[in-house]
Amino acid sequence: MEEDMKFNTKTIHGGQQHDPAYGAVMTPIYQTSTYAQSIPGKHKGYEYSRTHNPTRNALENAFASLENGKYGLAFGSGLAAIDAVMKLLKPGDEVISSNDLYGGTYRLFTKIFEDFGIKFRFVGLNESSNVERFVTEKTKLIWVETPTNPMMNIIDIKAIAEVTKKHNILLAVDNTFATPYLQRPLDLGADIVMHSATKYMGGHSDVVMGALIVKDETLAKQLYFIQNASGAICGPQDSFLVLRGIKTLHVRMQRHCENGEAIARYLRNHPKVDKVYWPGFEDHPNHHIAKAQMDGYGGMISFSTKEDSLQGAVNVVQKLKIFTLAESLGGVESLAGHPASMTHASIPKEEREKTGIKDSLIRLSVGIEDINDLIIDLEQALS
Ligand SMILES: Cc1ncc(COP(=O)(O)O)c(C=O)c1O
Repeated sequence: MEEDMKFNTKTIHGGQQHDPAYGAVMTPIYQTSTYAQSIPGKHKGYEYSRTHNPTRNALENAFASLENGKYGLAFGSGLAAIDAVMKLLKPGDEVISSNDLYGGTYRLFTKIFEDFGIKFRFVGLNESSNVERFVTEKTKLIWVETPTNPMMNIIDIKAIAEVTKKHNILLAVDNTFATPYLQRPLDLGADIVMHSATKYMGGHSDVVMGALIVKDETLAKQLYFIQNASGAICGPQDSFLVLRGIKTLHVRMQRHCENGEAIARYLRNHPKVDKVYWPGFEDHPNHHIAKAQMDGYGGMISFSTKEDSLQGAVNVVQKLKIFTLAESLGGVESLAGHPASMTHASIPKEEREKTGIKDSLIRLSVGIEDINDLIIDLEQALS
C-alpha cells in the first residue's frame, strides 16, 4: 500500500498510523522522558525518550517514506545529523566532499573531525569523473550537497554512486535544498540522505532539526546506535511541528518552484544584476543533470550585482522589505542572505572565493508569497 502511494499522498499519510491510545488522527506530542514498566523490562515498546519517543518515531517514519528509504532518524539539528554520520568513521579514514557546501558543514569537518584523525579532501564535483582519482584505499565516505549552497552547482548523484559502489564507499547526500519532492538520492544510488529539516521539511522557520534516511538495515542499526549513544535527538514538540510541516511539503514546494523560476528570470533581465545562479536555466553548466535527477528547480537563487563590492550587496539586502535579511532558508517567507558574511563566514575568504562566493553575492530563499509583491520588493531594492 505504502509503496504504491504517490508522493503527494505520502506527505500526509506516509509511515503514519492513527494513535493507538485514542485514535487521534494527528500523532500527539508525547511530552515524556520515560515510560511505566509493569515489571522490570516489561513495557509497551518505549523505555526512555532518548532511545525512542512515539512522536519522534512518527516523524522518522514520515522521513523514511518520503525519501523512499526504510529507516529515518531525527536529530536536534542538521549538523547533529551530519555529526552522527561522521561517527561511522575511524581515525585514518578519508572523506571526499564537494568543495561548495554549507559553511557549518565545512566547519564541522575541518575544525572538529580533522582533529579526530579524519582526512577531508574538498573537490569540485561538477565533473563527476573528477572524483575517482581522489579515491584511495582509506576513502570511506563521499559527501555531496546538490544543489550546492550557495552556488547552485549540480552534482550527478547517479554517476558518483557508480564510483562509490565500485570502491565500496558510502555516499551521503545533503538533500536540504531539493527536498524529496524534487530529488530522491536513495533511488539514484546514495546510501544516506541527510536533511537540515530546519529548512523546507519543517517549512515554517520555527524549528531546528536534522534527519538521516537510509535503506540498509546494518547501516541503520549503526546510526541508531550513534543516535542513542551520543544523544543528539530532537524533542517531541519539535517532532510534532516538523511532522505537521511535512504534510504541506508538496504544495509549498510547488509554489517555491513557481516563484523561484519567476524571480530567477526577472533577475536575469535586470540591468543592475551581473550573474544569476539557478539550475533551471538552460545554460546552467549542469542543467542537463538537474533536469534528469530533479523534478523541478526549487526556490533557492543566488545572484551578484554589477556593482561588484560588499557595499553593493549590502545596499540591496538592506533595502528589501518583504524579503527578510536573515540566516536560514526553506520557510514560507522569503529570506535574503549575504553568504560571505553570514552562512559561509566560517569558510576562509580565499577558500570561499575559489568556489565563487564573492562579497557581492546575495542568496535568496524565495517564499510562497504573491509573486508580484516579491518582484516589486526586489525592484525597489535594486533601484
Ligand atoms: C545545506 C545545509 N546543510 C546543513 C545545514 C545545517 O543544518 P542545521 O542548521 O539545521 O544544523 C544547513 C543550514 O543552513 C544547510 O543549509
